[in-house]
Amino acid sequence: MAAPLLIRNATLPDGRTGIDLLARDGRIEAVGPALGTPEAAEVIDAGGWMLSPPFVDAHFHMDATLSYGLPRVNASGTLLEGIALWGELKPQLTQDALVVRALDYCDWAVAQGLLAIRTHVDVCDDRLLAVEALLHVRERVRPYIDLQLVAFPQDGVLRAPRAMVNLQRALDLGVDVVGGIPHFERTMADGAESVRLLCELAAARGLRVDMHCDESDDPLSRHIETLAFHTQRLGLHGRVTGSHLTSMHSMDNYYVSKLLPLIREAGVHAVANPLINITLQGRHDSYPRRRGMTRVPEMLAAGINVGFGHDCVMDPWYSLGSGCMLEVAAMGLHVAQMTSQQGMRQCFDAVTVNNARILGLEGYGLEPGCHADFLLLQARSPVEALRLRAQRLLVVRAGTVIARSPERTATLNLPGRPDRVDFTRQT
Ligand code: FE2
Repeated sequence: MAAPLLIRNATLPDGRTGIDLLARDGRIEAVGPALGTPEAAEVIDAGGWMLSPPFVDAHFHMDATLSYGLPRVNASGTLLEGIALWGELKPQLTQDALVVRALDYCDWAVAQGLLAIRTHVDVCDDRLLAVEALLHVRERVRPYIDLQLVAFPQDGVLRAPRAMVNLQRALDLGVDVVGGIPHFERTMADGAESVRLLCELAAARGLRVDMHCDESDDPLSRHIETLAFHTQRLGLHGRVTGSHLTSMHSMDNYYVSKLLPLIREAGVHAVANPLINITLQGRHDSYPRRRGMTRVPEMLAAGINVGFGHDCVMDPWYSLGSGCMLEVAAMGLHVAQMTSQQGMRQCFDAVTVNNARILGLEGYGLEPGCHADFLLLQARSPVEALRLRAQRLLVVRAGTVIARSPERTATLNLPGRPDRVDFTRQT
């Protein structure tokens, strides 16, 4: 068992300063001022920087990540060309290559303080290569990342031959969550039917649901209403997530005023993917061009739990990204215009506590008794962390430091000015 770890003189996200945190046997034992030093403890001076629970990504595609350029790049940059491109790549995939790319991404994630990821995995391939690869990766990274897999029928569970059979085979192999993509089925009616079938499957197996839902600019794409209905009918409250929900951006306001309470009543979580949807949506518009991201502040105000996902990193849909959930949150903040102090803190929550609720993580947080998983960020508040995409000075898992980064600073050579800047500023 590792030695106890004592962090001295940290700031907490709620603004308390001069706080110590003691981790022992994989759990947070105490948080408060002037804690005693246990025998043989490793002691680290936080220098007043902020402790944070780890970042959590509620929506990712680890089977496609780091494949940018294979077999070619997405010329139009659209969702549909991305899906077609993924279809070209699938026959060329090998399990070894999938595992190597996923493990490489997990290294980035750890360095960025991202210690829990829900990833969709395409099940529309009879070989289930990606499923087997990511099940292997889930075990490999278990000591340092909680990886949750969603059985995702990319080509439509009713539209693609054998997709339902393969989805159930994936669940039999140990995939955690039931996925879907109702807006990609052949008709609205098929989309609604897919939601019913998949929710019933999840209820029968005692699993959670996370559907790509209404990732469209079509205001009449209303599968989220059906998802909330079946969640309510089957008693799946708190266990179902609607991902993307971009059609809500374009919906009639009167209809949305009916829809939001239905989502809230069913306890359906929402995930927006700001980097991807600001890029993919509105592609059929001239000007004005819609932003396309779902209605984040309105859903939060209605009492709906909203998380932000990274969705893609260097794949057929998105050429950029590095596993930085602060970049994701900052983009969400801008697109949703959540620039108030409360709004910015909500965006920080959207990549930490809100996503932890979506994944159903137990023992997440900075309170005594929680898992000793936390970060030391080079910032003194969540807002400063967002503004600076703050350095992850320490990444701690189960009470052990698993990644370190140096403080970000620059030296200056200017007459009459300080010789060093670190971009922080007390507000
Ligand atoms: Fe996605």
